[in-house]
Amino acid sequence: MKLRKAVFPAAGLGTRFLPATKAQPKEMLPLVDKPIIQYGVEEALASGCDQILIITGRGKQAIEDHFDVSYELERMLEDRKKIDLLKIVRSISDMIHVAYVRQKEALGLGHAVLMARELVGNEPFAVLLADDVIDAKVPCLKQMVEVFDQTQCSVLATQVIEGKMISSYGVLDVKPADGRFGGRLYEIKNMVEKPKPEDAPSNLAIIGRYILTPAIFDCLANTQAGAGGELQLTDGMRLLLQKEKMYAYVYEGRRHDTGDKLGFLKATVEFALKREDLGQPFREYLKGLKL
Ligand code: UTP
Repeated sequence: MKLRKAVFPAAGLGTRFLPATKAQPKEMLPLVDKPIIQYGVEEALASGCDQILIITGRGKQAIEDHFDVSYELERMLEDRKKIDLLKIVRSISDMIHVAYVRQKEALGLGHAVLMARELVGNEPFAVLLADDVIDAKVPCLKQMVEVFDQTQCSVLATQVIEGKMISSYGVLDVKPADGRFGGRLYEIKNMVEKPKPEDAPSNLAIIGRYILTPAIFDCLANTQAGAGGELQLTDGMRLLLQKEKMYAYVYEGRRHDTGDKLGFLKATVEFALKREDLGQPFREYLKGLKL
């Protein structure tokens, strides 16, 4: 089967970014001049997905408006002959059809993914967590699609995290898979959500890119809520592992955790330095700072 659908859970409360996220979604915070969720949507399109589903909640209206047509703005830009800006604005709403599902209460990432069940149906789908912005030559999801196309199994993107920070992630217990993907592919034996550093089965963390088979929905429906009443995606995936083979793929690229203030600042600097229009003056500015 081919991967066509990409799900973006975006109903979380974004508490790490308060007060900015009190009245606006963290997914709309701009990295230079583009909301972080747009980076993820562009990655999904570049990876072959043609159906985007965003799981939203209260206070997330700005995401829907962003991917919608803005007649007033377009007319104003047309009248003022701001053709370049008009192109940018139109390209966002022309990009693709986006569907939305509401998660009424933020009951966890697993619960958010379960909300996608009806629209995804009985086919594989990707899950992208927008605040993991991944800068890569080949889009991260596209790398994973290559694995999926060959294995037809669920594939999780993984990254080595050294030291105590591993406790902030879902962590994988793995064995090496065959050599087809240059030693980057592992078969998953088990996984555990946010273990203590001494209990972590490896230093391979699950990051915000997944390709899942539809069997995950039954698994999530049969998973009990964990700590804080939240339904954990990792717990659902552990059930899936009892039914199907799953793979972990060490993606090539650089991930920025933009849901975290320091991660967001670092990403902003790196993305701005790479920009043709801003890179040079911004570099000059940074050099002039007495640090
Ligand atoms: P996070 O763990 O980053 O939580 O969620 P959060 O609420 O967004 O942010 P913090 O930690 O409070 O700052 C991971 C992803 O799962 C989504 C979030 O929107 C984010 O993309 N999510 C989480 C939901 O859609 N629903 C939930 O109930 C929880």
